[in-house]
Amino acid sequence: MLRLRQNSKYLRKQNLFNDLKREAVSEVNISARAPITASQQDRRQVLECGIAPYPHYRSSIKITPLRISFDGNVTMRITIIGTGYVGLVTGTCLAEYGNDVLCLDVDPRKIEILKSGGIPIYEPGLEEMVKRNVEAGRLRFTTDIEESVAHGTIQFIAVGTPPDEDGSADLKYVTAAARNIGKHMTGYKVIVDKSTVPVGTADKVKAAIAEELAARDNTTSFAVVSNPEFLKEGAAVEDFMRPDRIVIGVEDDTARDLMHSIYAPFVRNHDRILYMDVRSAELTKYAANAMLATRISFMNELANLAEKLGADIEFVRKGIGSDPRIGYHFLYPGVGYGGSCFPKDVQALQRTAAEYGQNLEILNAVESVNYAQKSVLIHKIIQRYGENLKGLHFALWGLSFKPNTDDMREAPSRIVIDGLLARGATVTAYDPVAMHEAQRAIGEKTGLAYADSPKQALESADALVVVTEWKAFRSPDFDEVKTLLKQPVIFDGRNLYEPERMKAEGFEYYPIGRKQP
Ligand SMILES: NC(=O)c1ccc[n+]([C@@H]2O[C@H](COP(=O)([O-])OP(=O)(O)OC[C@H]3O[C@@H](n4cnc5c(N)ncnc54)[C@H](O)[C@@H]3O)[C@@H](O)[C@H]2O)c1
Repeated sequence: MLRLRQNSKYLRKQNLFNDLKREAVSEVNISARAPITASQQDRRQVLECGIAPYPHYRSSIKITPLRISFDGNVTMRITIIGTGYVGLVTGTCLAEYGNDVLCLDVDPRKIEILKSGGIPIYEPGLEEMVKRNVEAGRLRFTTDIEESVAHGTIQFIAVGTPPDEDGSADLKYVTAAARNIGKHMTGYKVIVDKSTVPVGTADKVKAAIAEELAARDNTTSFAVVSNPEFLKEGAAVEDFMRPDRIVIGVEDDTARDLMHSIYAPFVRNHDRILYMDVRSAELTKYAANAMLATRISFMNELANLAEKLGADIEFVRKGIGSDPRIGYHFLYPGVGYGGSCFPKDVQALQRTAAEYGQNLEILNAVESVNYAQKSVLIHKIIQRYGENLKGLHFALWGLSFKPNTDDMREAPSRIVIDGLLARGATVTAYDPVAMHEAQRAIGEKTGLAYADSPKQALESADALVVVTEWKAFRSPDFDEVKTLLKQPVIFDGRNLYEPERMKAEGFEYYPIGRKQP
């Protein structure tokens, strides 16, 4: 630890910057009687020293957009608007690095849960981090819009952008958040679009704020930045803390410096911040999700072909994934992509393209392949038992749209359950984490029951249907599974088991795109 005390040496600011740059400081502790006003150039130097909002530097230097004062904490005041999956993770991770974060939500239920020490979503590692930062006084929650606007120089918008009836992104929550800022702001603000929003949204946010300011004859300046989020549910904290890249679309120097100072601690070993213009940043997010969705649909289509050809998609997957130009990620065939992002983002990009007179042919195919793939398990079940499933009972493992989350949005399990119930079957479902959320999302349905354990779900079922690849389902006790099921039949939408082994264990096994021994 380097202790810098105010002395004559540091009356020259340049000496301080030189020292900070030279030393690998882990803590800076500076006290000064009077704040020292700093120029733009000084501020840039402080940011280059990497001493902005880093936890170890908390009791050192305070940065405001136009001033550095050596008399307080190195913290940014940040407001997060929308405390859902993205907002809560963003706010908590920014607090972890020493910032003073206030999270706003219009849903009083969520804020109540958070204020009383719980968290409204399941995300590994998040609960402890929330608790730690709340206790340290760096993370707070509110439903008070005026308080939230007053709090942060930086205002992150992380509200939902659900699909509208025509598939385009519904921007009503984003616009409402922007208007609230415009209605109440009294000083310079940087508004950061973190929600996934169509190209051109930053301009709309800017216009909405400007309109609200004009309505009250206010000329306060502000900047709008695009900073799309790439975290994956189930690994969100890890993704945020160790990002592959941070995309920042910014066209204002002060806003760029502030964004840099916020993210510098997250990319200390090498710089992974990609600056670009705002529209390119907005498009980057859709391009990333569209590419990933494309890989999934491509593999699903090939898996279906492999079945017809008597080939095994698992060999094919490894055979192509080993090519570094292709790589292994997102090449797993299954029951189609779901979740809160891919389906709506693919559609929203199609809509944006259509507005500009372009037809995205590849994405049209990606979507229609995915639509068909969601029914692949139902087709396999019908092939085995016939169209009428009356009198049959199925155990279903996995409800969330993917493992390590309780998110049920567009979860393939919902389509499988509906397909089974519609044909007269009954279902008992189990999920390690999403039981509560599933019951909330699906509600009561005749013929659908929920089990307390994977074992309980299996009792007296005619077959097991695996929908989500939770680790807990990867190596079950197959003897026990056989004993509990009425017949040893497994429909596996995630290729969790080896066909050879299943045959040896005496199961009738229906995976996706795999060769039957
Ligand atoms: N979930 C993900 O994995 C993920 C990943 C990357 C990007 N995104 C994008 O981030 C955005 C948010 O996604 P999410 O999954 O966190 O959504 P979410 O539904 O979990 O959370 C959004 C929250 O915003 C709140 N809200 C709505 N209007 C508000 C307002 N005017 N003021 C304050 N709060 C308001 C809602 O009550 C809700 O709690 C979306 O655009 C999404 O596409 C999501």
